[in-house]
Amino acid sequence: MEKNMYDQVPTMEPQRQFYYMEKAKSYVDDLAQQLGRRPTFCVTTFGCQMNARDSEKLTGILETIGYEAADSEDADFVIYNTCTVRENANNKVWGRLGYLSTYKKHHPHMKIALCGCMMQEPEVIEKLQKSYRFVDLIFGTHNIYKFAELIVATFEQKGMVVDIWKDTDKIVEDLPVERKYSFKSGVNIMFGCNNFCSYCIVPYVRGRERSRKPQDIIREIEHLVADGVVEVMLLGQNVNSYGKNLETPVTFAELLQEIEKIEGLERIRFMTSHPKDLSDELIEVMSKSKKICKHLHLPLQSGSSRILKEMNRHYDKEQYLTLVEKIRKAVPDIALTTDIIVGFPGETEEDFLETMDVVQKVRYDSAFTFIYSKRTGTPAAAKEEQVPEDVVKDRFDRLLKEVQSCASERAQALTGKTESVLVEEVNEQDSSLVTGRLSNNFVVHFPGTEELIGKIVNVKLKECKGFYFYGEMTGEV
Ligand code: 5AD
Ligand code: SF4
Repeated sequence: MEKNMYDQVPTMEPQRQFYYMEKAKSYVDDLAQQLGRRPTFCVTTFGCQMNARDSEKLTGILETIGYEAADSEDADFVIYNTCTVRENANNKVWGRLGYLSTYKKHHPHMKIALCGCMMQEPEVIEKLQKSYRFVDLIFGTHNIYKFAELIVATFEQKGMVVDIWKDTDKIVEDLPVERKYSFKSGVNIMFGCNNFCSYCIVPYVRGRERSRKPQDIIREIEHLVADGVVEVMLLGQNVNSYGKNLETPVTFAELLQEIEKIEGLERIRFMTSHPKDLSDELIEVMSKSKKICKHLHLPLQSGSSRILKEMNRHYDKEQYLTLVEKIRKAVPDIALTTDIIVGFPGETEEDFLETMDVVQKVRYDSAFTFIYSKRTGTPAAAKEEQVPEDVVKDRFDRLLKEVQSCASERAQALTGKTESVLVEEVNEQDSSLVTGRLSNNFVVHFPGTEELIGKIVNVKLKECKGFYFYGEMTGEV
Protein backbone atom coordinates (compact mmCIF):
# COMPACT_ATOMS: atom_id res chain seq x y z
CA MET A 1 0.00 0.00 0.00
CA GLU A 2 1.09 3.56 -0.69
CA LYS A 3 2.27 5.19 2.52
CA ASN A 4 1.03 8.64 1.50
CA MET A 5 -2.54 7.75 0.72
CA TYR A 6 -3.85 11.21 1.41
CA ASP A 7 -2.25 14.46 0.38
CA GLN A 8 -3.10 16.02 3.69
CA VAL A 9 -3.00 14.74 7.23
CA PRO A 10 -6.40 15.37 8.88
CA THR A 11 -6.23 17.93 11.69
CA MET A 12 -9.39 16.76 13.47
CA GLU A 13 -9.43 13.89 15.95
CA PRO A 14 -10.07 11.00 15.86
CA GLN A 15 -9.81 11.17 12.03
CA ARG A 16 -6.13 12.07 12.28
CA GLN A 17 -5.41 8.91 14.27
CA PHE A 18 -7.32 6.73 11.80
CA TYR A 19 -5.13 8.21 9.08
CA TYR A 20 -2.01 7.27 11.07
CA MET A 21 -3.39 3.80 11.80
CA GLU A 22 -3.57 3.18 8.04
CA LYS A 23 -0.04 4.46 7.64
CA ALA A 24 1.23 2.36 10.55
CA LYS A 25 -0.50 -0.68 9.05
CA SER A 26 1.63 -0.45 5.93
CA TYR A 27 4.84 -0.22 7.99
CA VAL A 28 3.76 -3.21 10.07
CA ASP A 29 2.97 -5.14 6.85
CA ASP A 30 6.50 -4.39 5.59
CA LEU A 31 7.89 -5.64 8.90
CA ALA A 32 5.79 -8.81 8.65
CA GLN A 33 7.28 -9.44 5.20
CA GLN A 34 10.80 -9.05 6.55
CA LEU A 35 10.14 -11.33 9.51
CA GLY A 36 8.11 -13.87 7.56
CA ARG A 37 5.40 -13.73 10.26
CA ARG A 38 3.12 -11.20 11.96
CA PRO A 39 5.10 -9.09 14.46
CA THR A 40 4.01 -9.48 18.08
CA PHE A 41 3.38 -7.06 20.96
CA CYS A 42 3.15 -7.19 24.74
CA VAL A 43 1.61 -4.42 26.89
CA THR A 44 2.58 -4.64 30.58
CA THR A 45 0.41 -2.61 32.94
CA PHE A 46 1.52 -1.22 36.28
CA GLY A 47 -0.80 0.60 38.69
CA CYS A 48 -4.52 1.16 38.85
CA GLN A 49 -7.64 0.34 36.84
CA MET A 50 -7.28 3.61 34.99
CA ASN A 51 -4.00 2.32 33.60
CA ALA A 52 -5.56 -1.07 32.86
CA ARG A 53 -8.18 0.68 30.75
CA ASP A 54 -5.51 2.75 28.99
CA SER A 55 -3.68 -0.48 28.15
CA GLU A 56 -6.84 -1.79 26.47
CA LYS A 57 -6.77 1.35 24.30
CA LEU A 58 -3.10 0.73 23.39
CA THR A 59 -3.95 -2.89 22.58
CA GLY A 60 -6.86 -1.76 20.39
CA ILE A 61 -4.53 0.35 18.28
CA LEU A 62 -1.79 -2.31 18.08
CA GLU A 63 -4.26 -4.95 16.88
CA THR A 64 -5.82 -2.54 14.39
CA ILE A 65 -2.45 -1.86 12.78
CA GLY A 66 -1.58 -5.54 12.49
CA TYR A 67 0.45 -6.56 15.53
CA GLU A 68 -0.45 -9.85 17.20
CA ALA A 69 -0.70 -10.27 20.97
CA ALA A 70 2.11 -12.28 22.63
CA ASP A 71 1.88 -13.70 26.17
CA SER A 72 5.37 -12.68 27.18
CA GLU A 73 7.83 -9.83 26.78
CA ASP A 74 9.79 -11.79 24.16
CA ALA A 75 7.84 -9.72 21.65
CA ASP A 76 8.66 -7.42 18.73
CA PHE A 77 7.03 -4.46 20.46
CA VAL A 78 7.09 -4.17 24.27
CA ILE A 79 5.11 -1.41 25.99
CA TYR A 80 5.28 -0.55 29.68
CA ASN A 81 2.31 1.44 30.90
CA THR A 82 3.79 2.79 34.10
CA CYS A 83 2.60 4.00 37.51
CA THR A 84 4.31 6.38 39.90
CA VAL A 85 1.98 6.56 42.88
CA ARG A 86 4.65 5.04 45.15
CA GLU A 87 8.40 4.74 44.75
CA ASN A 88 8.26 0.93 44.41
CA ALA A 89 6.07 1.31 41.28
CA ASN A 90 8.96 3.23 39.67
CA ASN A 91 11.56 0.75 40.91
CA LYS A 92 9.78 -2.12 39.21
CA VAL A 93 10.04 -0.33 35.86
CA TRP A 94 13.75 0.49 36.22
CA GLY A 95 14.44 -3.14 37.15
CA ARG A 96 12.60 -4.56 34.16
CA LEU A 97 14.13 -2.07 31.75
CA GLY A 98 17.54 -3.55 32.60
CA TYR A 99 16.32 -6.95 31.49
CA LEU A 100 14.78 -5.52 28.31
CA SER A 101 18.02 -3.83 27.31
CA THR A 102 19.82 -7.20 27.30
CA TYR A 103 17.00 -8.75 25.31
CA LYS A 104 17.06 -5.97 22.75
CA LYS A 105 20.81 -6.44 22.16
CA HIS A 106 19.95 -9.85 20.68
CA HIS A 107 16.83 -8.59 18.89
CA PRO A 108 17.79 -5.21 17.40
CA HIS A 109 14.57 -4.76 15.38
CA MET A 110 12.56 -4.83 18.59
CA LYS A 111 10.67 -1.67 19.69
CA ILE A 112 10.28 -0.54 23.30
CA ALA A 113 7.74 2.09 24.36
CA LEU A 114 7.15 3.61 27.79
CA CYS A 115 4.03 5.54 28.72
CA GLY A 116 1.77 6.32 31.67
CA CYS A 117 2.12 8.27 34.89
CA MET A 118 5.83 7.83 35.55
CA MET A 119 6.61 9.46 32.19
CA GLN A 120 5.01 12.70 33.39
CA GLU A 121 7.93 13.21 35.78
CA PRO A 122 10.70 15.34 34.24
CA GLU A 123 13.47 13.56 36.21
CA VAL A 124 12.37 10.23 34.76
CA ILE A 125 12.56 11.55 31.20
CA GLU A 126 15.99 13.03 31.88
CA LYS A 127 17.28 9.72 33.20
CA LEU A 128 15.83 7.80 30.23
CA GLN A 129 17.33 10.21 27.71
CA LYS A 130 20.68 9.98 29.38
CA SER A 131 21.06 6.30 30.21
CA TYR A 132 18.33 4.35 28.42
CA ARG A 133 18.89 5.24 24.77
CA PHE A 134 17.59 1.85 23.61
CA VAL A 135 14.00 2.95 24.35
CA ASP A 136 12.23 3.87 21.10
CA LEU A 137 9.18 5.78 22.25
CA ILE A 138 8.16 7.71 25.35
CA PHE A 139 4.80 9.40 25.82
CA GLY A 140 2.65 10.42 28.77
CA THR A 141 -0.88 10.27 30.13
CA HIS A 142 -2.37 13.20 28.17
CA ASN A 143 -1.51 12.12 24.63
CA ILE A 144 -2.13 8.39 24.77
CA TYR A 145 -4.76 8.87 22.04
CA LYS A 146 -1.85 9.76 19.69
CA PHE A 147 -0.33 6.29 19.96
CA ALA A 148 -0.82 5.48 16.25
CA GLU A 149 0.80 8.75 15.20
CA LEU A 150 3.73 8.14 17.54
CA ILE A 151 4.23 4.60 16.27
CA VAL A 152 4.51 6.00 12.74
CA ALA A 153 7.14 8.43 14.05
CA THR A 154 9.20 5.50 15.37
CA PHE A 155 9.19 3.98 11.88
CA GLU A 156 10.09 7.23 10.15
CA GLN A 157 12.50 8.86 12.58
CA LYS A 158 15.88 7.74 13.88
CA GLY A 159 16.46 7.66 17.65
CA MET A 160 14.14 8.06 20.58
CA VAL A 161 10.70 9.61 19.99
CA VAL A 162 9.63 11.63 23.04
CA ASP A 163 6.26 13.36 23.34
CA ILE A 164 5.14 14.48 26.80
CA TRP A 165 2.44 17.07 27.49
CA LYS A 166 2.14 18.96 30.76
CA ASP A 167 -1.67 18.96 30.76
CA THR A 168 -4.61 18.91 28.37
CA ASP A 169 -8.25 19.86 28.18
CA LYS A 170 -8.83 17.47 25.30
CA ILE A 171 -10.79 14.20 25.35
CA VAL A 172 -10.66 12.17 22.13
CA GLU A 173 -13.58 9.76 21.67
CA ASP A 174 -14.17 6.71 19.46
CA LEU A 175 -10.73 5.16 19.09
CA PRO A 176 -10.39 1.36 18.94
CA VAL A 177 -10.28 -0.52 22.27
CA GLU A 178 -9.55 -4.21 22.81
CA ARG A 179 -11.10 -5.43 26.07
CA LYS A 180 -9.37 -7.95 28.30
CA TYR A 181 -12.72 -9.47 29.32
CA SER A 182 -15.64 -9.92 26.93
CA PHE A 183 -18.30 -9.51 29.63
CA LYS A 184 -17.01 -6.63 31.76
CA SER A 185 -15.31 -3.36 31.05
CA GLY A 186 -13.90 -0.25 32.64
CA VAL A 187 -15.40 3.00 31.35
CA ASN A 188 -13.62 6.31 31.92
CA ILE A 189 -16.09 8.92 33.05
CA MET A 190 -13.50 11.55 33.93
CA PHE A 191 -9.78 12.12 33.81
CA GLY A 192 -7.41 13.95 36.15
CA CYS A 193 -7.76 15.16 39.69
CA ASN A 194 -8.13 18.55 41.39
CA ASN A 195 -7.81 17.50 45.00
CA PHE A 196 -4.10 17.82 45.72
CA CYS A 197 -3.93 15.53 48.74
CA SER A 198 -0.55 16.54 50.13
CA TYR A 199 1.09 13.09 49.69
CA CYS A 200 -0.20 12.37 46.21
CA ILE A 201 1.46 12.77 42.84
CA VAL A 202 -1.63 11.97 40.77
CA PRO A 203 -2.80 15.59 40.19
CA TYR A 204 0.68 16.36 38.81
CA VAL A 205 0.82 13.40 36.44
CA ARG A 206 -2.83 13.10 35.42
CA GLY A 207 -3.62 16.81 35.17
CA ARG A 208 -6.79 18.74 35.96
CA GLU A 209 -10.23 17.20 36.21
CA ARG A 210 -12.08 16.72 32.91
CA SER A 211 -15.42 14.92 32.67
CA ARG A 212 -16.68 13.14 29.60
CA LYS A 213 -20.12 14.20 28.39
CA PRO A 214 -22.90 11.95 29.72
CA GLN A 215 -24.12 11.18 26.17
CA ASP A 216 -20.62 9.94 25.17
CA ILE A 217 -20.48 7.70 28.25
CA ILE A 218 -23.97 6.31 27.67
CA ARG A 219 -23.22 5.67 23.99
CA GLU A 220 -20.03 3.81 24.89
CA ILE A 221 -21.84 1.65 27.46
CA GLU A 222 -24.67 0.91 25.02
CA HIS A 223 -22.11 -0.30 22.49
CA LEU A 224 -20.35 -2.37 25.14
CA VAL A 225 -23.64 -3.99 26.17
CA ALA A 226 -24.47 -4.76 22.53
CA ASP A 227 -21.05 -6.44 22.41
CA GLY A 228 -21.76 -8.71 25.41
CA VAL A 229 -20.74 -6.61 28.42
CA VAL A 230 -22.93 -7.08 31.52
CA GLU A 231 -20.84 -5.21 34.11
CA VAL A 232 -19.17 -1.81 33.88
CA MET A 233 -16.71 -0.16 36.23
CA LEU A 234 -17.01 3.63 35.97
CA LEU A 235 -13.53 5.06 36.39
CA GLY A 236 -12.33 8.39 37.72
CA GLN A 237 -9.88 9.63 40.35
CA ASN A 238 -12.83 11.14 42.20
CA VAL A 239 -16.11 10.06 40.63
CA ASN A 240 -18.09 12.07 43.17
CA SER A 241 -17.04 15.30 41.54
CA TYR A 242 -18.06 14.08 38.07
CA GLY A 243 -19.76 16.57 35.81
CA LYS A 244 -19.12 19.74 37.80
CA ASN A 245 -17.19 21.42 34.99
CA LEU A 246 -19.32 20.32 32.06
CA GLU A 247 -21.05 23.00 29.97
CA THR A 248 -24.32 21.62 31.34
CA PRO A 249 -23.36 20.34 34.79
CA VAL A 250 -24.53 16.84 35.72
CA THR A 251 -24.05 15.09 39.06
CA PHE A 252 -22.56 11.62 39.41
CA ALA A 253 -25.85 10.43 40.91
CA GLU A 254 -27.72 11.71 37.84
CA LEU A 255 -25.25 9.96 35.53
CA LEU A 256 -25.74 6.70 37.45
CA GLN A 257 -29.50 6.94 37.04
CA GLU A 258 -29.12 7.31 33.28
CA ILE A 259 -26.71 4.37 33.10
CA GLU A 260 -29.11 2.25 35.16
CA LYS A 261 -31.69 2.62 32.36
CA ILE A 262 -29.49 0.85 29.80
CA GLU A 263 -31.21 -2.40 28.98
CA GLY A 264 -29.03 -5.51 29.16
CA LEU A 265 -26.56 -3.92 31.57
CA GLU A 266 -26.69 -5.92 34.80
CA ARG A 267 -24.08 -4.48 37.14
CA ILE A 268 -22.56 -1.06 37.75
CA ARG A 269 -19.42 -0.46 39.80
CA PHE A 270 -17.40 2.71 40.28
CA MET A 271 -14.01 3.84 41.58
CA THR A 272 -12.89 5.97 43.41
CA SER A 273 -15.06 7.97 45.79
CA HIS A 274 -13.61 10.81 47.81
CA PRO A 275 -15.47 10.98 51.16
CA LYS A 276 -15.60 14.78 51.05
CA ASP A 277 -17.74 14.77 47.89
CA LEU A 278 -20.03 11.80 48.55
CA SER A 279 -23.54 13.26 48.38
CA ASP A 280 -26.82 12.26 50.03
CA GLU A 281 -28.21 12.13 46.50
CA LEU A 282 -25.69 9.40 45.63
CA ILE A 283 -26.52 7.40 48.75
CA GLU A 284 -30.20 7.57 47.87
CA VAL A 285 -29.57 6.47 44.29
CA MET A 286 -27.44 3.57 45.54
CA SER A 287 -30.13 2.49 47.99
CA LYS A 288 -32.80 2.36 45.27
CA SER A 289 -30.71 0.93 42.46
CA LYS A 290 -31.13 -2.61 41.17
CA LYS A 291 -27.84 -2.54 39.27
CA ILE A 292 -25.29 -0.65 41.36
CA CYS A 293 -23.17 -3.24 43.16
CA LYS A 294 -23.24 -3.43 46.94
CA HIS A 295 -19.72 -2.20 47.27
CA LEU A 296 -18.22 1.18 48.03
CA HIS A 297 -14.51 1.93 48.04
CA LEU A 298 -14.11 4.87 50.39
CA PRO A 299 -10.45 5.74 51.00
CA LEU A 300 -9.83 6.74 54.62
CA GLN A 301 -6.04 7.39 54.35
CA SER A 302 -5.82 8.15 58.09
CA GLY A 303 -8.13 8.05 61.09
CA SER A 304 -6.44 11.01 62.78
CA SER A 305 -8.21 14.33 62.20
CA ARG A 306 -4.90 16.12 62.65
CA ILE A 307 -3.16 14.02 59.96
CA LEU A 308 -6.20 14.27 57.68
CA LYS A 309 -5.83 18.03 57.84
CA GLU A 310 -2.15 17.75 56.99
CA MET A 311 -3.11 15.46 54.12
CA ASN A 312 -5.52 18.11 52.81
CA ARG A 313 -8.39 15.62 52.79
CA HIS A 314 -11.17 18.04 53.81
CA TYR A 315 -12.90 15.70 56.30
CA ASP A 316 -12.17 14.61 59.84
CA LYS A 317 -12.54 11.34 61.70
CA GLU A 318 -16.05 12.11 62.96
CA GLN A 319 -17.32 13.20 59.54
CA TYR A 320 -15.97 10.00 58.00
CA LEU A 321 -17.62 7.82 60.64
CA THR A 322 -20.92 9.69 60.27
CA LEU A 323 -20.78 9.16 56.51
CA VAL A 324 -20.19 5.43 56.98
CA GLU A 325 -23.15 5.25 59.35
CA LYS A 326 -25.37 7.02 56.83
CA ILE A 327 -24.34 4.67 54.02
CA ARG A 328 -24.78 1.52 56.10
CA LYS A 329 -28.24 2.70 57.19
CA ALA A 330 -29.33 3.33 53.57
CA VAL A 331 -27.69 0.21 52.09
CA PRO A 332 -27.40 -2.29 54.98
CA ASP A 333 -25.65 -5.11 53.09
CA ILE A 334 -23.03 -2.88 51.43
CA ALA A 335 -19.37 -3.90 51.53
CA LEU A 336 -17.00 -1.09 52.43
CA THR A 337 -13.37 -1.11 51.37
CA THR A 338 -10.67 1.47 51.83
CA ASP A 339 -7.10 2.69 51.34
CA ILE A 340 -4.93 3.58 54.34
CA ILE A 341 -1.48 5.15 54.46
CA VAL A 342 0.83 4.43 57.40
CA GLY A 343 3.77 6.64 58.30
CA PHE A 344 2.71 9.98 56.85
CA PRO A 345 5.29 12.58 58.02
CA GLY A 346 4.70 13.51 61.65
CA GLU A 347 2.32 10.57 62.36
CA THR A 348 2.52 9.80 66.10
CA GLU A 349 1.47 6.64 67.92
CA GLU A 350 -1.73 8.50 68.96
CA ASP A 351 -2.49 9.37 65.35
CA PHE A 352 -1.96 5.76 64.36
CA LEU A 353 -4.27 4.54 67.14
CA GLU A 354 -6.98 6.81 65.72
CA THR A 355 -6.60 4.97 62.40
CA MET A 356 -6.86 1.62 64.21
CA ASP A 357 -9.96 2.94 65.98
CA VAL A 358 -11.68 3.76 62.68
CA VAL A 359 -10.80 0.32 61.29
CA GLN A 360 -12.26 -1.31 64.40
CA LYS A 361 -15.41 0.81 64.19
CA VAL A 362 -16.05 0.51 60.45
CA ARG A 363 -14.98 -3.15 60.09
CA TYR A 364 -13.99 -2.95 56.43
CA ASP A 365 -14.64 -5.87 54.11
CA SER A 366 -11.19 -5.29 52.68
CA ALA A 367 -8.50 -2.62 52.89
CA PHE A 368 -5.41 -1.72 50.93
CA THR A 369 -2.69 -0.61 53.32
CA PHE A 370 0.30 1.39 52.11
CA ILE A 371 3.50 2.57 53.63
CA TYR A 372 3.88 6.30 52.99
CA SER A 373 6.15 6.92 50.01
CA LYS A 374 7.78 10.31 49.55
CA ARG A 375 6.89 11.72 46.12
CA THR A 376 9.10 14.56 44.94
CA GLY A 377 7.15 17.71 44.19
CA THR A 378 4.27 17.02 46.59
CA PRO A 379 3.84 19.24 49.69
CA ALA A 380 4.32 16.29 52.08
CA ALA A 381 7.75 15.53 50.60
CA ALA A 382 8.98 18.85 52.01
CA LYS A 383 8.00 17.89 55.57
CA GLU A 384 10.90 17.12 57.79
CA GLU A 385 9.37 14.85 60.42
CA GLN A 386 9.62 11.58 58.44
CA VAL A 387 8.66 8.58 60.64
CA PRO A 388 11.51 6.06 61.23
CA GLU A 389 11.31 2.95 59.08
CA ASP A 390 11.08 0.45 61.96
CA VAL A 391 8.22 2.39 63.57
CA VAL A 392 6.33 2.48 60.27
CA LYS A 393 6.90 -1.24 59.72
CA ASP A 394 5.58 -2.06 63.19
CA ARG A 395 2.46 0.08 62.66
CA PHE A 396 1.93 -1.41 59.22
CA ASP A 397 2.02 -4.96 60.62
CA ARG A 398 -0.42 -4.12 63.40
CA LEU A 399 -2.78 -2.44 60.94
CA LEU A 400 -2.60 -5.32 58.47
CA LYS A 401 -3.46 -7.82 61.20
CA GLU A 402 -6.51 -5.79 62.23
CA VAL A 403 -7.65 -5.25 58.66
CA GLN A 404 -7.34 -8.96 57.89
CA SER A 405 -9.24 -9.96 60.97
CA CYS A 406 -12.12 -7.58 60.08
CA ALA A 407 -12.20 -8.84 56.50
CA SER A 408 -12.40 -12.49 57.46
CA GLU A 409 -15.06 -11.73 60.07
CA ARG A 410 -17.15 -9.94 57.41
CA ALA A 411 -16.70 -12.82 54.98
CA GLN A 412 -17.56 -15.40 57.65
CA ALA A 413 -20.89 -13.67 58.22
CA LEU A 414 -21.90 -14.42 54.62
CA THR A 415 -21.23 -18.15 54.83
CA GLY A 416 -24.30 -20.26 54.06
CA LYS A 417 -25.99 -17.51 52.03
CA THR A 418 -26.87 -17.79 48.34
CA GLU A 419 -25.71 -14.84 46.28
CA SER A 420 -25.68 -13.84 42.62
CA VAL A 421 -22.25 -14.19 41.08
CA LEU A 422 -20.75 -13.01 37.80
CA VAL A 423 -18.51 -15.82 36.54
CA GLU A 424 -15.17 -14.39 35.41
CA GLU A 425 -12.80 -17.23 34.61
CA VAL A 426 -11.83 -20.87 34.94
CA ASN A 427 -9.86 -21.26 38.17
CA GLU A 428 -6.14 -21.12 37.48
CA GLN A 429 -5.16 -23.79 40.02
CA ASP A 430 -8.08 -26.19 39.56
CA SER A 431 -9.73 -26.30 36.14
CA SER A 432 -12.80 -28.11 37.52
CA LEU A 433 -13.70 -24.82 39.23
CA VAL A 434 -14.74 -21.42 37.98
CA THR A 435 -14.19 -18.13 39.77
CA GLY A 436 -16.69 -15.33 40.09
CA ARG A 437 -17.50 -12.20 42.03
CA LEU A 438 -20.40 -11.35 44.28
CA SER A 439 -22.04 -7.95 43.99
CA ASN A 440 -20.07 -6.96 47.11
CA ASN A 441 -16.83 -7.88 45.33
CA PHE A 442 -15.98 -11.00 47.35
CA VAL A 443 -14.61 -13.87 45.27
CA VAL A 444 -16.05 -17.39 45.15
CA HIS A 445 -14.75 -20.56 43.51
CA PHE A 446 -17.22 -23.32 42.59
CA PRO A 447 -17.53 -26.33 40.29
CA GLY A 448 -18.37 -25.24 36.75
CA THR A 449 -17.16 -25.03 33.18
CA GLU A 450 -15.95 -22.40 30.75
CA GLU A 451 -19.47 -21.95 29.27
CA LEU A 452 -20.46 -20.13 32.46
CA ILE A 453 -17.97 -17.29 31.89
CA GLY A 454 -19.82 -13.97 31.63
CA LYS A 455 -23.04 -15.38 33.11
CA ILE A 456 -24.64 -14.31 36.37
CA VAL A 457 -25.59 -17.34 38.45
CA ASN A 458 -26.76 -18.08 41.98
CA VAL A 459 -24.11 -19.64 44.19
CA LYS A 460 -24.40 -20.96 47.73
CA LEU A 461 -21.38 -19.84 49.77
CA LYS A 462 -20.51 -23.07 51.51
CA GLU A 463 -17.10 -22.51 52.99
CA CYS A 464 -15.29 -19.31 53.92
CA LYS A 465 -11.53 -19.27 53.40
CA GLY A 466 -10.79 -15.91 54.97
CA PHE A 467 -11.07 -13.57 52.00
CA TYR A 468 -12.84 -15.86 49.55
CA PHE A 469 -15.34 -18.69 49.43
CA TYR A 470 -15.89 -22.15 48.05
CA GLY A 471 -19.45 -22.54 46.83
CA GLU A 472 -21.93 -24.45 44.78
CA MET A 473 -24.06 -23.19 41.95
CA THR A 474 -27.79 -23.41 42.63
CA GLY A 475 -29.05 -22.02 39.31
CA GLU A 476 -28.92 -19.28 36.71
CA VAL A 477 -30.36 -15.90 37.62
N1 5AD B 1 2.46 6.98 49.59
C1 5AD B 1 1.73 5.90 49.92
N2 5AD B 1 0.52 5.65 49.43
C2 5AD B 1 -0.01 6.55 48.56
N3 5AD B 1 -1.18 6.57 47.93
C3 5AD B 1 -1.21 7.67 47.15
N4 5AD B 1 -0.07 8.37 47.28
C4 5AD B 1 0.70 7.69 48.16
C5 5AD B 1 1.98 7.90 48.72
N5 5AD B 1 2.71 8.96 48.42
C6 5AD B 1 -2.23 5.58 48.12
C7 5AD B 1 -3.51 6.21 48.64
C8 5AD B 1 -4.42 6.13 47.45
C9 5AD B 1 -3.94 4.89 46.76
C10 5AD B 1 -4.32 4.76 45.34
O1 5AD B 1 -2.53 4.97 46.88
O2 5AD B 1 -3.98 5.43 49.69
O3 5AD B 1 -5.78 6.05 47.81
FE1 SF4 C 1 -3.09 5.01 38.54
FE2 SF4 C 1 -2.15 6.97 40.08
FE3 SF4 C 1 -0.57 4.96 39.47
FE4 SF4 C 1 -1.26 6.73 37.63
S1 SF4 C 1 -0.06 7.14 39.49
S2 SF4 C 1 -1.29 4.49 37.40
S3 SF4 C 1 -3.36 7.21 38.21
S4 SF4 C 1 -2.41 4.83 40.70
